[in-house]
Amino acid sequence: MDYTVTEQNTAAPADEPRRQQFFIEKCRMYTEDFRIRQGRAPSANIRTFGCQMNERDSEKLRGILVCAGYEITDREDADLVIYNTCTVRENANLKVYGRLGYLNGLKKKNPHMRIVLCGCMMQEKEVVNKIRKSYPFVDLIFGTHNIWQFAELLFRMQESREMLVELWDSTDKVVEELPAQRTYSFKSGVNIMYGCNNFCTYCIVPYVRGRERSREPKDILREVEQLAADGVAEIMLLGQNVNSYGKTLEHPVSFAQLLQEVEKVEGIQRIRFMTSHPKDLSDELIEVMAGSEKICPHLHLPLQSGSSRLLGKMNRHYTKEGYIALCEKLRSRIPDLSLTTDIIVGFPGETEEDFLETLDVVRTVRYDSAFTFIYSKRTGTPAAQYPDQVPEEIVKDRFDRLLALVQETGREQISRFEGQTQPVLVEHVNTQDASLVTGRLANNLIVHFPGDASLIGQIVPVTLTECKGFYFMGERKIG
Ligand code: SAH
Ligand code: SF4
Ligand code: F3S
Repeated sequence: MDYTVTEQNTAAPADEPRRQQFFIEKCRMYTEDFRIRQGRAPSANIRTFGCQMNERDSEKLRGILVCAGYEITDREDADLVIYNTCTVRENANLKVYGRLGYLNGLKKKNPHMRIVLCGCMMQEKEVVNKIRKSYPFVDLIFGTHNIWQFAELLFRMQESREMLVELWDSTDKVVEELPAQRTYSFKSGVNIMYGCNNFCTYCIVPYVRGRERSREPKDILREVEQLAADGVAEIMLLGQNVNSYGKTLEHPVSFAQLLQEVEKVEGIQRIRFMTSHPKDLSDELIEVMAGSEKICPHLHLPLQSGSSRLLGKMNRHYTKEGYIALCEKLRSRIPDLSLTTDIIVGFPGETEEDFLETLDVVRTVRYDSAFTFIYSKRTGTPAAQYPDQVPEEIVKDRFDRLLALVQETGREQISRFEGQTQPVLVEHVNTQDASLVTGRLANNLIVHFPGDASLIGQIVPVTLTECKGFYFMGERKIG
């Protein structure tokens, strides 16, 4: 198919986002042509790995695809398959390589099929070299810095038979106002900043997501207002370290100030945010949370390790004692606050004593739940060079002990809500039992209770009848 004639007739505008809108139109011509020839629209499947940032990015990719005339499908043998990748731990990469072989088999059966890889993993040179060499059937690769160019790249890919690779090393550009297709009608992520400047020594995110850039408050508020007008009840403000939001803006604004503005948007009923770095959590934020009707009483506060010695080596800028004191202050100002966390086991040089400090923090803080990770060596990060990597069997043993403790304390902690009636935002029909629906309490706990699809998106009172560990079974309270 050749669209170069139209290309010559109307040159692509140089300014964004008009340029991308121009290419969305071009892609639309392609999908219309496909529809005429095949008697159906081309289908597209997006698979997202990693964190909420990637989930949100995928919503933007999906928005562009829908505008361009693609039909979104769950089927993996679609005409366009996109993997939005993560590279935070080696496992995430292995999953992608594993799936690619399988996709190649599907591609052989569907002559229309095109394969696109994007996201954090693509920002690593070794990964792209490996794909060029071992997975030559991939059609398009782009990265995190130029994701907003998707329409243009998609169009160029359709015209080319070669693998198209477009990667930027960094960017200071934020392109707004492109379409997004949300996964849920009633809740949405909102990026408030991109990138990360913290360089925790184990972490690859700053290398693949670039330097920290905050969005202007007015742009964020406009997006939140649009979402509210669209019927969204819950928003999650997204950033790798929301507590440092706004510091580098021309007119600096604190995260707490931003929250107060967001709170004023009518229609928004719940406000969440991810992630909070303990080192930058201000008293101002605690006070704003304490006085707020809409900010959910939940804080995800990654600990990473309970050993002050290791925290230093991780470049986290807080100590065990400082972290515990912060949690105590939070709990005293925000009663019933749910605290959750991330913990890494087996960071280089971790001794049994260091590990026992981590267990001690888990016992002292009493998290509602915790994500526990085995340390994964990431090429290019300082910790990958540390000589004293911990043997696998020791790490595995510590991981099991930590998980057992986290489960035990989590269960004890959340059972405090048993018998209470709390507002629940209903998210979906239960995947295992269609007579139940699944929703979330303000503190992010999950509850399953009898109900049907008509409740989705509503906030209803539910009595928490039985604690099942990390979640609850409940009954809707009527009247
Ligand atoms: N910006 C967030 C975290 C983003 S990554 C923050 O600072 O809290 C999510 C989690 O992955 C981290 O909190 C950490 O626990 C884990 N993680 C990051 N790099 C890792 C690595 N190399 N090995 C194991 N876990 C890692
Ligand atoms: Fe990674 Fe640390 Fe940045 Fe979080 S704050 S993304 S753990 S470097
Ligand atoms: Fe993964 Fe990138 Fe998020 S590395 S955790 S998808 S920022």
